[in-house]
Amino acid sequence: MINYSVDGEGIATLEWDLPGRSQNVLNEQSMAAFAEAAQKALADPAVKGIVVASAKADFIAGGDLDMLLKATDAQVLSANLGGWHRLLRTLETTGKPVAAALNGNTLGGGLEVALACHYRVASDNPKARFGFPEVTLGLLPGAGGTQRAPRLMGIQPALLLLTEGKRIKAAEAQKLGLIHAVVPAGSEREAARAWVIEAATKNAVPGRDGKPGKTLQPWDQKGFKVPGGGVMTPAGMQTFMAGNAMLREKTQGNYPAPKHILSCVFEGLQTDIDTGLKSETRYFVNLVLSPEAKNMIRSLFFFMQEANKLAGRPQDVPTQKYTRIGILGAGMMGAGITHAAATAGLQVVLLDTSVEAAERGKAYSAKLLEKRVAKSQLSQDGAAAVLARIHPTTDYADLAGCELVVEAVFEDRALKAEVTKKTEAVISADAIFASNTSTLPITGLAEASARPANFIGLHFFSPAERMPLVEIILGAQTAPATLARAMDFVKAIGKTPIVVNDARGFYTSRVFGTYLSEGMALLQEGVAPALIENAGRIAGMPVGPLALADEVSLELVHKIAKQTRADLGDTYVPRAADQVAALMVEKLKRLGKKGGQGFYDFPANARKHLWAGLAEHFPVRPEQPSLDQVIERLMLIQSIETVRCLEEGVLSSPRDADVGAILGWGYPPFRGGPIGQIHTMGVANFIAACDRLAEQCGDRFRPIESLRKKSAEGSQFFSI
Ligand code: NAI
Repeated sequence: MINYSVDGEGIATLEWDLPGRSQNVLNEQSMAAFAEAAQKALADPAVKGIVVASAKADFIAGGDLDMLLKATDAQVLSANLGGWHRLLRTLETTGKPVAAALNGNTLGGGLEVALACHYRVASDNPKARFGFPEVTLGLLPGAGGTQRAPRLMGIQPALLLLTEGKRIKAAEAQKLGLIHAVVPAGSEREAARAWVIEAATKNAVPGRDGKPGKTLQPWDQKGFKVPGGGVMTPAGMQTFMAGNAMLREKTQGNYPAPKHILSCVFEGLQTDIDTGLKSETRYFVNLVLSPEAKNMIRSLFFFMQEANKLAGRPQDVPTQKYTRIGILGAGMMGAGITHAAATAGLQVVLLDTSVEAAERGKAYSAKLLEKRVAKSQLSQDGAAAVLARIHPTTDYADLAGCELVVEAVFEDRALKAEVTKKTEAVISADAIFASNTSTLPITGLAEASARPANFIGLHFFSPAERMPLVEIILGAQTAPATLARAMDFVKAIGKTPIVVNDARGFYTSRVFGTYLSEGMALLQEGVAPALIENAGRIAGMPVGPLALADEVSLELVHKIAKQTRADLGDTYVPRAADQVAALMVEKLKRLGKKGGQGFYDFPANARKHLWAGLAEHFPVRPEQPSLDQVIERLMLIQSIETVRCLEEGVLSSPRDADVGAILGWGYPPFRGGPIGQIHTMGVANFIAACDRLAEQCGDRFRPIESLRKKSAEGSQFFSI
């Protein structure tokens, strides 16, 4: 795992090289191997100094998340980490110069190893990133990052890196003082070695006391002061006061990791580094065992990784490469999808009913590209190349040769049928026809197709160029090969797929809709609108349910409710939300944000605010529920509806449920997802809460039998 060598000048190289893995990660085995190699080098009098390097394309990617996800024993964790801290402290205090040669990504635990070296030199590798991404998975840098980074860079810049998890390039890392030098790619090891030789030689010269000098970290030198001022300086106090408040506003107290990072720095920098490291360990262990971190590691890392690797893709279908696709309709969605595909390198034929409309779709891309050029994220040539791949047209014949066509015309069955037929007349027999419909069943739309086996739903989210999720919808006749190839397309344009079966609202709209309707039901019951909205945000949702209903448009909410009632007839179960939407739309003509008024008022030159007239139409009752009661209703309704989707086969895996919720409607990752939420509570507790809510609010909360069975069997959704 660690290749050990000593050269003719007594410089030992400890080269990270985990067998069978593309990346170096810190786990029990690799940490033990590094400790052994480091101790050997430190103990050998012939070794004058040490270079730490990597045999892979990157330095070290960070801690082994599988190990952290499975960790359950605080004492074992603390003991292991304590040993690692002692090793890194030995490495930086014995006096032998140690340099890190950073050839590529140096993240998390990898950067922490580098910070325990006296000198850090990075390759000028444009792909290399530096930073502490731990916080994005509910963790903190537990191998000294919260102690060494602020002692090196100053408290404020370090806190930004530590609490935001941003990954920066080598030049910025150098500017911030995180690394010492950036050298041409391929020469970093030699540069590290040259520094070690010089340091070893210089320090061999006796100091004033006659003893040989030592290479020491800044914080181990006499008279060390934190750059920019310590915790108790006016600047330090201001940083913590403002930082704490900003964090609270951003996280609503739902994410313990950034808070613990602030505490580590606040406490640790008022003491010596060894005491600071001990305090960091306690906070780290607390986080590793927290449900928030487990949920985030499972959903944001493992589930996303599986989804992006197209888990669930039908096997034995060769991977389809895409070169040319078609988009029908250059409106909001069509233009966004076009941009995503053209940026990913595909030729896009963009068809609309007039040349102007099609050109407008292309102009949308031009504007987005201009912004990136202005920010130096893209060259002029790069932007021109993307635009050259977009071919606006009104002529169906131009779609010939497209491997896949996405339809994004108006939400109208007859119109969609017409464009399907026209397109199939020109594309090849094995090309895929995909509809981006948001509400119309795919099986029904496929009736217009001569090849329903090649017909599928690809439900994008708005704005399509930015939103990472695509909900793939299978019609009754969609062939497995079509699914496999559609998944290849989603991957080719850099998005994450989930796969669902054709049913009303598919998955995302159906469950997301319960959040809106529960908010509207609460309003109808006389709960204060501000309480409902705050509860949504404090629960971790991006916005409150009433604000979201305004965004989606109350008119649309009302229209879908009416359509559903008409389709289902006697089996339709009326909801309080239907009455609220009908009143708002039909009587009060408040259609939502687009119309300038909904649950909120949208003044032209001021911030939106809840409409005062709500008090008249939805009188606030004297006793109000607690904040927790409102949160419970808003969140559990989503979980119970998700379980129904699994039960009905709309979804085939809890993974897709949680990935779809987080990426599709901004479900808070600290809860894991609607299924992660049940797992966190425990199935039995979830059932008890839902039974109670069903008594109070109605059968929409009633847990289904399969869930009771799961609880009776003691089984869970996830093993961890
Ligand atoms: P839009 O109204 O912005 O764009 C529709 C475009 O289709 C217009 O440019 C129109 O000129 C064009 N069009 C109409 N008839 C056509 C025809 N015969 N041939 C070619 N082009 C034609 O609508 P938007 O919002 O882009 O929605 C498009 C589809 O995507 C709808 O089915 C909608 O339900 C669905 N969708 C919308 C989402 C949203 O957030 N807006 C999200 C997900 C899906």
